[in-house]
Formats: sequence, structure tokens, C-alpha cells
Amino acid sequence: MPLSNQYPSLKDKVVFISGGATGIGAALVEAFCCQGARVAFVDVLTEDANQLVRRIGEMAGATAPHFFHCDVTRTQDLQNVLKIVGEQLGPVAALLNNAASDTRHDFRTIDEDYWNSRINVNLRHAFFAIQAVQPGMKAAGGGSIINFGSMSWYECQGNMTGYTTSKAALEGMTRGLARELGEDNIRINTLIPGWVMTERQLRDWVNEDTLQEIQRSQCLKGRLMPEDICAMALFLASDDSRMCTAQNFVVDAGWI
Ligand SMILES: NC(=O)c1ccc[n+]([C@@H]2O[C@H](COP(=O)([O-])OP(=O)(O)OC[C@H]3O[C@@H](n4cnc5c(N)ncnc54)[C@H](O)[C@@H]3O)[C@@H](O)[C@H]2O)c1
Repeated sequence: MPLSNQYPSLKDKVVFISGGATGIGAALVEAFCCQGARVAFVDVLTEDANQLVRRIGEMAGATAPHFFHCDVTRTQDLQNVLKIVGEQLGPVAALLNNAASDTRHDFRTIDEDYWNSRINVNLRHAFFAIQAVQPGMKAAGGGSIINFGSMSWYECQGNMTGYTTSKAALEGMTRGLARELGEDNIRINTLIPGWVMTERQLRDWVNEDTLQEIQRSQCLKGRLMPEDICAMALFLASDDSRMCTAQNFVVDAGWI
């Protein structure tokens, strides 16, 4: 589904997206490139990332994105990439903390190392990315940070406590940083997707039973697509949302 909105304030802006090679992240990379933004993204999936760069590079009217291979759980690597992006493209104007991993686990059996790995891949990197971009945003007179939350913990979804705990904490991080960042005109919000039909979700989780659950639970009966999340992300990154900060923005088709 092509998005109809154009945000002039996003043209030539530097946008950094973690986990941009596949899923919602890839749709975000494409959506911001189609706005004429200068997009940098990181991921561990090099082949998917290179394919995405090639595909967008061939699209008329889109600015080709820049891919950096980076495991976001390696904090120093992530901060180094953000430094290089700042030097090569300019200060990051919008930071999208999208990378995550929702692997299932039984809370009775996991050990401390595994727990830490879930927190690191779902929560810690967001904080250290924010820390790295803040000076550049401050010097530029402001910026927008979008943390990606999840409805899963509202719904008491089990078997993924490391993920759900991290996603709940990201909302706390948004609220906890909004006042200090606001002094430098830096906005920070949490974008909370419902159940989005990415290729991976369709492959791993969507079947007849879960489609019925979607029909029962969503007030709107259409399928939630990555583009629906992009539409909100573009708004939150643009100057049109200039007085929005410290909030949750839920795009879930009314999941009750
Ligand atoms: N798809 C949904 O239904 C849904 C629902 C609620 C919330 N969300 C949230 O939206 C965001 C995107 O969701 P998605 O479904 O596209 O996620 P996904 O898990 O399919 O993709 C996440 C991306 O992050 C990358 N990634 C994972 N670990 C990484 C690491 N250590 N370093 C660098 N990159 C890494 C992956 O390779 C992938 O490209 C996530 O934050 C997710 O929690 C998604």
C-alpha cells in the first residue's frame, strides 16, 4: 500500500533506523527514503539489507539508504556507527529504535545470560543510541526519537518475558527521558504496533486459529500492515508533530 502523505520537513533529514533489514524496519527504511530523507540503518542480516538498498536505489524518487552491519547488543559498535553516520551524513534528526527479538522462552528454565541477552537486544540498545545522538540533536536545535513498544505485555502474552519486560520498560524510558530531552527540543515517543503482518509473522505465527483471533480482537477487521506503522512513524519524525512528546501512539486496529 503506497503512503499518500509527504512531509517536506523530512526531506534531506538524517534518519537512523535500527533493525532496518526486514519486517517493519525495512518498510520504515523505504518510507523515509521515499520522503527524500537520508536514511542510515543497521542490522545483522547483511544479505537482506543489501537487497533492500539495491531495491530502493532503483526506485524513482527515493534516496538510497546507507547500510551498516552492526549488532545492536554491542554498545560500542552501535555508538561507533552513530558517530560515523553523524560525520558522513550529518546529525541524526530522527532516531527509530526498532530492532528487537521476540524469541519465546520458558521463564522457569532460562539462566541469567539468556535473560541479559533478551534485555540487551530489546531494551539496552535504545538507551545507548539515544545517548549517542543527543549531542548532535541538541546542537541542531532538536530532534525526534521513536521507541518501538508492543501490545504483547498489555495482553499478558506469555513465553516471552524478556521481550515483554523490555517493551514495557521502553515506555518508561520514553517518559523518563522526555523532560531532560525536552530542554533541548528533542521529542521522544513510543510507537506501539498491534499485530503487524510482516513476512516473518505470516510465516511463523499466522494460521487459521490466529486469523480468527485477529477477527475477534480487532475493532477494525482489516490486516495491520507495516505501512500502517510507517504512517505514524513519518508523522512522529516530522515537524508536524512538533509538540508531541512523552506519549504512546498505538496503531493496533483497536485490539480489545
Ligand atoms: N510485527 C509485529 O506484529 C509487532 C508487534 C508489536 C511490536 N512490534 C515491534 O515493532 C518492531 C519491528 O517489528 P518486526 O516484526 O519487524 O520485528 P522483527 O523481529 O521481524 O525484525 C526486527 C529486525 O531487527 C533486527 N535485529 C534483531 N536483532 C538485532 C541485533 N542484535 N542487531 C541488529 N539488528 C537486529 C532483525 O534482523 C530484524 O531485521 C520491533 O521493535 C517489534 O518489537 C512488532
